Amino acid sequence: MKSAPKGAVVSASLPKGEKKREKAEERLITVYIMGKAYQVPAESTIMGAIEYAGHMIVRGAGCREGYCGACATIYRLPGDYKIRTGLACMTLVEEGMTLAQIPSVPAEKAIYDIEKLKPNVSAIQETYPVVFRCVACGTCTKSCPQGLQVMDYVQAAKRGDITAIMDLSFDCVSCGLCMLRCPAEITQPLVGILGRRLYGRYLRKESAGLAERVLAVNAGAFEAEYAEMMSMSREDLSKLYYARDSE
Ligand code: SF4
Ligand code: SF4
Ligand code: FES
Repeated sequence: MKSAPKGAVVSASLPKGEKKREKAEERLITVYIMGKAYQVPAESTIMGAIEYAGHMIVRGAGCREGYCGACATIYRLPGDYKIRTGLACMTLVEEGMTLAQIPSVPAEKAIYDIEKLKPNVSAIQETYPVVFRCVACGTCTKSCPQGLQVMDYVQAAKRGDITAIMDLSFDCVSCGLCMLRCPAEITQPLVGILGRRLYGRYLRKESAGLAERVLAVNAGAFEAEYAEMMSMSREDLSKLYYARDSE
């Protein structure tokens, strides 16, 4: 993150000609970014506030919509002892918030050959024996910006319940905030990935729908639609994306 020009409190610059009008309309609040005070719009996300304050985010931003997990943030609120966690692109700023970005959390990633593992507790013992150090404190669950029952999937890993790991960790975006706070230094997102891989390789049911769709793709059923999309402007593609059916 590159820093903005020096100054005790920075009112970030607005587009030319709009400064007065925007200032009249927007309520500004003070937040502290890497220890320095800035005035930012009260309705901003943390990510929007950081950029409004003049910082260029060069690490720690990806999808900007809560999917990629690149924008982990820790923060404190005034008069509150708690260190809170959130995704910068999804969490709104609050008056007096003190922010620090955590674009990645160092982790020891196990190297394994999925073909040589079995979908039971032996796979966990071989790859991530650290899960057996879990003291069931619940800090990981409290830290998860996705609202996942992280402790429960760690417990499932201890039992070798691969289906439960897959189910409970399915919406993990690998932000790393849980492992950052874990007193047993467990790498929860990596355990979740292992569980989902084991499930996909050994336990999932065959999907008839998938087989049919692969046949249709190979038969060229979507060629015309694909060619049309490739010729669309970015704007039209964006409209199409947001108008899509999604679960
Ligand atoms: S389980 Fe951990 S890594 Fe995954 S989204 Fe929740 S806090 Fe982030
Ligand atoms: S934070 Fe760590 S020790 Fe605590 S419940 Fe989660 S995995 Fe277990
Ligand atoms: S930028 Fe992707 S989750 Fe925030």
